[in-house]
Amino acid sequence: MLRNKLAFVLVLLAGLLLVGCQAAAPAEEPAKVYTYPDMVVGFIQTGSEGGWRAANTASFKETAEQLGINLKFYDAQNHMENQLSAFRNFIADEEVNVIVLAALETTGWEEVLQEAKDAGKLVVLEDRRIDAPEDMYVTYIGSDFAEEGRKSALEMCKLLEGSESKNVVELVGNVGSSAAKDRGQGFREKMGECGIEIVKSQTANWDATEGKAVMEAWLNETTDIQGVFAQNDEMGLGAAQAITEAGLNPGDDIVILTVDATAGAFRAMIAGDINVVVECNPLLAPQVYEAALKALNGETLPKWVPSQEGVFYAADAETILPTRKY
Ligand code: AHR
Repeated sequence: MLRNKLAFVLVLLAGLLLVGCQAAAPAEEPAKVYTYPDMVVGFIQTGSEGGWRAANTASFKETAEQLGINLKFYDAQNHMENQLSAFRNFIADEEVNVIVLAALETTGWEEVLQEAKDAGKLVVLEDRRIDAPEDMYVTYIGSDFAEEGRKSALEMCKLLEGSESKNVVELVGNVGSSAAKDRGQGFREKMGECGIEIVKSQTANWDATEGKAVMEAWLNETTDIQGVFAQNDEMGLGAAQAITEAGLNPGDDIVILTVDATAGAFRAMIAGDINVVVECNPLLAPQVYEAALKALNGETLPKWVPSQEGVFYAADAETILPTRKY
C-alpha cells in the first residue's frame, strides 16, 4: 500500500517537473521579417559611360530613397579591379546585408562570391550576367542581350532589304561584358537570314567619342558600308557624326541601328540619323530591391528575371519620345 502511494507521488512529481520544464524552456525566437528600411545595399556600378548607365544609376538612387533603403553606392569607373575591391569592402562592412553587382566582366567573380557567401551576404546581379555557379548568387535581373542581338539582326535585314550588298560594321561595347558578348552572338545567329556580312567589328567601349574615331578609321579604308550595328546608342551617335563628316548621310547612305533607346537616340531618329533602336531597359531597381527583400526573408527566386523590351522606329520617334523615362 505504502509502496503504491510512493509510486503515485513519484509519478505526480515527475509530471509536475515535466510541465515545469516545458514552461521554463525559452520560447523559439520568431524569424525576423525584413522590410525595406532594414536593407543596407552595397551597389557596385560599372561606371558612368553614357545615358543608359545614368538612367540605371538614377533608378537605384531614386528607388532607394522612395523605399527607405540605405544605399551605399560605388562607381567603379569601368575598372574591374575597382569592382573587386568594392566587393570586398562591402563584405567587410557589417551594415551591408545585400550586395548588388553590375559586372564589368563575365568572369573573375568566384572568389569574392565565395567570400560573400561565407560572410552571409546576399548577392543580386543587375544588368549584367556573369559566368559563375548559380548557387553563388540570389538572382540575375536584366536583359536578354542575345535576344537584343537577334532582334537587331532581323531589323537590320529589314533596313537593308533590296540592297545588293549588305556590308555591316559592328561597334562593340566593353569586350568582356555579357552585354557585348551576347549581343554580338545574337546578331550573328540571325544575320545569315538575309545575307548580312560583318565586314568590320571593333570595340569602342560604349563611348561616343571612341565610336566616332573607329567609324572614321573604317570610312578612311572603305565607304562600301551599308549598315552600322552599334551595340549601344552612344557609339551609334558617334558613328553618325563620323559619317556626316565624311560627306555621307547617316540613316540614308549608311543605315544605323543602335541598342538602348535613350532620349539621345530618339532625338537622332527624329533628325533622321539613326533608323532603328532596340530597347534595353535600365530601370531595374524596383525589381532588384524587391528580389533582395524576398531573399532576405528566405524566399527562393528564379535565377534570371529577364526584362520586357521593344523596338523603336524613326517614323514613330517624335510621338514616343515624350513618353520615355530615360
Ligand atoms: O549592360 C547594358 C549596356 O551597358 C548598355 O547597352 C550600355 O549603354 C551600357 O553601358
